[in-house]
Amino acid sequence: MVMRRILLALAVGCAAAEDGLNAWLRYAPLPCSLSRHHSLPESIIALNSTTTSPVYSAGQELHKGLLGIFGKNLTVSTSLPSGKPPSKAVVVGTVAAFGKSSGVGHDVASALEPDGFWLEVKGSMVTIVGQNERGALYGAFQYLSLLARADFSDVAFVSNPAAPVRWTNEWDNLDGSIEHQYGGPGIWFQGGHVVDDLTRAGQYARLLSSVGINAVIVNNVNADANILTDANMQGLGRLADAFRPYGVQLGIALNFASPQSIGGLSTFDPLDPGVIQFWTDITDKLYQHVPDLAGYLVKANSEGQPGPLTYNRTLADGANLFARPLQAHGGVLMFRAFVYNNNLNESDWKADRANAAVQFFDGLDGKFEENVVVQVKYGPIDFQVREPTSPLFAHLSRTNAAIELEVAQEYLGQQCHLVYLAPLWKTVLDFDLRVDGRPSLVRDIVTGRRFKRPLGGFAGVANVGTHPTWLGSHLATANLYAFGRLAWDPSQTAEGLLDEWVVLTFGHDRHLRSTLSQMALESWPMYENYTGNLGIQTLTDILYTHYGPNPASMDNNGWGQWTRADAHGIGMDRTVSNGTGFAGQYPPEVAAMYESLHTVPDELLLWFHHVPYTQRLRTTGETVIQHFYNAHYAGAETAATFPARWASLRGKVDSDRYDAVLRRLIYQAGHAIVWRDAINEFYRNKSSIEDERGRVGHHPWRVEAEDMTLAGGYSVVDVTPFETASGFRAVVATKNGSAATATTTLRFPDGTYDLVVGYFDQANGRSRWAAYLNDKLVGSWVGDGEDWLSHEHSTHLDGHSATRVRFPGVKVRKGDVLRVEGTPDGGEMAPLDYVALLPDGVID
Ligand code: GCU
Repeated sequence: MVMRRILLALAVGCAAAEDGLNAWLRYAPLPCSLSRHHSLPESIIALNSTTTSPVYSAGQELHKGLLGIFGKNLTVSTSLPSGKPPSKAVVVGTVAAFGKSSGVGHDVASALEPDGFWLEVKGSMVTIVGQNERGALYGAFQYLSLLARADFSDVAFVSNPAAPVRWTNEWDNLDGSIEHQYGGPGIWFQGGHVVDDLTRAGQYARLLSSVGINAVIVNNVNADANILTDANMQGLGRLADAFRPYGVQLGIALNFASPQSIGGLSTFDPLDPGVIQFWTDITDKLYQHVPDLAGYLVKANSEGQPGPLTYNRTLADGANLFARPLQAHGGVLMFRAFVYNNNLNESDWKADRANAAVQFFDGLDGKFEENVVVQVKYGPIDFQVREPTSPLFAHLSRTNAAIELEVAQEYLGQQCHLVYLAPLWKTVLDFDLRVDGRPSLVRDIVTGRRFKRPLGGFAGVANVGTHPTWLGSHLATANLYAFGRLAWDPSQTAEGLLDEWVVLTFGHDRHLRSTLSQMALESWPMYENYTGNLGIQTLTDILYTHYGPNPASMDNNGWGQWTRADAHGIGMDRTVSNGTGFAGQYPPEVAAMYESLHTVPDELLLWFHHVPYTQRLRTTGETVIQHFYNAHYAGAETAATFPARWASLRGKVDSDRYDAVLRRLIYQAGHAIVWRDAINEFYRNKSSIEDERGRVGHHPWRVEAEDMTLAGGYSVVDVTPFETASGFRAVVATKNGSAATATTTLRFPDGTYDLVVGYFDQANGRSRWAAYLNDKLVGSWVGDGEDWLSHEHSTHLDGHSATRVRFPGVKVRKGDVLRVEGTPDGGEMAPLDYVALLPDGVID
């Protein structure tokens, strides 16, 4: 009995509640079966006593890690004992600090590149040598990662980063909000200034550094010129201080028009001497506050932002304006390639936003200063679920380039849907552009290898916030982890990185490891299945929240994310022979592959070609429209398996994280059905072609709210977009303060069902609903997604607010009366879409 209690306590101890703040840096105790090891260091020597030094942080981190994982409370000293070199110690420092006497040979030193490290584990003697201070810290994190993953092998290797630019971009506004904020408000700005308490900023730098990220652009690319006020420069100085112990440098995004808006000049022309002087002075001043400023990020002439084109200057003139003053300080200028006209005319068959980057940068290759890096989004449009690699990478052989990835899941479920992004990123990084007929992987272009460029790398839009999970969801941190690790070494696999993250974040249990990894690996293809297929883009609402389905929003506007769907066909003709010519922006071998319907990969068919809905896919033989239907059903079916698969991990994950993840996966499974039905209905309506399997538009187990007996003020409304409501209509209450009811007599055979209710959860109220069977309460719920779901919320009935609740195992007899009572709150009028009684195995 006593033994059982001890075992129970141990089990509970292993799964102690966690809030996610430490993400993958938990240093959780190893399970007993794995912690049997023979040799661990018995002291820590970090060869730097300055508390702001990353080497000092390495010592602290090693202490924390060895204590957490093994319960070993080791002393940390900051110098090598004189005389005998220590045995049974972990020694960490820079090449310079180790000096000649330490036995670290010339070979090691000469093999190291900036930020690189040497890690040698020989039993209990561990040597970590950084080329520079942060390299030493990276080595310490690497050693701790091995230990936390129960890897006790003797090793001796050099690890150098693939590229010098490994930055996150944070789209924080000075008022504390974040553009595309899914993890709460930002952690360093509030009310126009840098906050006093920068604890979270330091903790974030620690996380970033553990995966090799070396700089953060701290403000929105749509930049506020007030970042440059004296008070803010001082604040940035404090922020940089908070980052510095982790080797993370600070950078800022600039507003091109600052000379005019805050500098009192009449112009922001990049060739104007006054403007040049303005930026020189600003830069010199900033470096007084932040002596190790990483550099600037500039978004110019894009989505209403000012830029050099206003003055008929080139983008290179614009970039060089900032790059030159930065040179004196060793800073880097990241210049975004996301330049396009958002007032395109869709009636022009040749107009194409995808063409913009290559066109705008045409003739500029080689015209940028050496410290300019052109930052290119992975695809030619905007972080869609599937895009071909941006062709601009093939056009910058004499210019430094970086790839921009988006960790924040802006168009990919906003952290409310599990979507592990590394497989998507790998399709781009591993893509061979065949420049000059030679192997030209995107990853080799951005790391500078292919064209022998000195600079280049990776920018990841992270948008972390005050939520303890940083990104708003525990599972989303896999994407931040993978981003950093790929920036260090883009040849790593999405699967390998995921396994590391799972073990570090949740533990070693084999079932847990395989279950969670499998779910995550299925998640991007699944998401693509239930959103936009065959390269048509995500099909989310591009004019509003970028979250739920709204395919109609893609067309009939100037944004150029067109699908050109009509009654007969769908897709953008981007061929050279008959379309916008975009395919021709790729080097010949790639261009030829995309140009022809016989060779274009199915997953990009509609990106490159406008085809009839009856066009057959090369791989499966399905028609385009039938593929849409099938994929959407398959995607929603996969999502429906996630809650139960996660539930099989109960007891293997602490209850706080277990519950939080489960709640989201249940939500995702429901929203996947919203997506499925919306997209299928939309294209069935457009094409007038029925699903050959008879599923679309047929929901035998549903009762539409509009067909129920309504009382207490419920009335029927048409929903816009129509496809986001089952049967295209819903009911809303008309009287605030009292409950409205929708009642139906069930005609289904006697049996046990899952009761599902489709409803709308708007941001402008917290309505309450309750479902009764023969006057007996089955369940009740509140429309409070705005309090716990991280996505951008809507105040309308649409694909963002549409959602479902599920009550399993309800016994029903034919003739039973089901009543749903809705009590409105605020502007949310208890909207109700349908009820469904689902027999076992039916997903609808
Ligand atoms: C997207 C995003 C904007 C952002 C822009 C950018 O369009 O929705 O909020 O400013 O990309 O990357 O500049």
